Amino acid sequence: MRTQVGIIGSGPSGLLLSQLLHLEGIDSVILERRTQDYVLGRIRAGVLEQGMVDMLRKAGVAERLEKEGLVHEGLSICFGDRRQRIDLKKHTGKVVTVYGQTEVTKDLIDAREAAGGTLIYEAENVQIEDLDSDTPALTFLKDGKQQRLTCDFIAGCDGFRGVSRRYIPEDKLKIHERVYPFGWLGILSETRPVSDELIYVNHWRGFALCSMRSPTRSRYYIQCAYDEDLEEWTDDRFWDELRIRLPSAAAESIEMGPSIEKSIAPLRSFIAEPMRHRHLFLAGDAAHIVPPTGAKGLNLAASDIYYLSRALTAYYKDDSRTDHMDSYSRDCLKRIWKAERFSWWMTTMLHKFPDQSSFDRGMQLAELDYLFDSEAAQASLAENYVGLPY
Ligand code: PHB
Repeated sequence: MRTQVGIIGSGPSGLLLSQLLHLEGIDSVILERRTQDYVLGRIRAGVLEQGMVDMLRKAGVAERLEKEGLVHEGLSICFGDRRQRIDLKKHTGKVVTVYGQTEVTKDLIDAREAAGGTLIYEAENVQIEDLDSDTPALTFLKDGKQQRLTCDFIAGCDGFRGVSRRYIPEDKLKIHERVYPFGWLGILSETRPVSDELIYVNHWRGFALCSMRSPTRSRYYIQCAYDEDLEEWTDDRFWDELRIRLPSAAAESIEMGPSIEKSIAPLRSFIAEPMRHRHLFLAGDAAHIVPPTGAKGLNLAASDIYYLSRALTAYYKDDSRTDHMDSYSRDCLKRIWKAERFSWWMTTMLHKFPDQSSFDRGMQLAELDYLFDSEAAQASLAENYVGLPY
């Protein structure tokens, strides 16, 4: 088999890249280790920046998003008995759209399939070969048969635990990392969201977040221990703990119901640089992880794909032009480091840290007090939340 761009991973990054390349007449093949049901069963992020919405529109997959996506002009931060609304629209002129990553993935798969794109599921043991040559290849096992896909370029969109990052030689790869001493326990339920905007809570028992997927589907999170046993969290226990942490008006009015999904996610900040080695380009979680507090993970994947599709399109459409390829890693990382900073800052401000010193606690209180009292601080949060420019 032969293609122009071989893509590892069928999450939003790989699918969006494949679709944007297709619209430019560039051929790609996606290899996915899992089944399509598995990919579509994952509950992930839900807040899209305007930049990402624009990319999905450009990719021709925004029709359902425009109908069903919920436009949010603000969000709330709660601490003690104080609740501060951050007016995104007023401070930035921009908004965010609540629309699940699962739905984005579904829309992209539909578009790729309608266009006759090649998506190979259950591709086992994917490996990269001849990366230093002009004809790198992806090898994999499909239905017990060994296959070889020769490519011009390879896009590693296979997530944090994917194989592609390992092909950047160790002596060239620099890793920057922070692992937080807690996780998030999240549930999805067929209930009316407690508020029509997101509520982020710093409570002395730990962080809590009220989010949603639709007017009838809620997504709630509470901070938990990183090694928490999911089995020990019945729905009743979750709702009780969530309500303790919410402002009383929300705790009293929240609609409760059975969970349809429940999971624990660790919190981590991680950056691998550079994001390119020879013919291999990393994008999304394969190269960086943010803690979910700033809602930046999916949006960073989209901005990586903006730069990668631009680089590949310039190469194929503009006489093998390589300047955008050469600056790919630098272009992505400039935005990534700032989103990492924002996500780290939101995480640090809003969580309960075990073994926090009195100085650290004082800093956290001062940070919140400043944010609640300063329009400038609120404008800064808003500017980052809606997404910095590409
Ligand atoms: C979500 O709805 O899953 C969500 C929203 C905002 C966040 C993180 C997750 O900051």
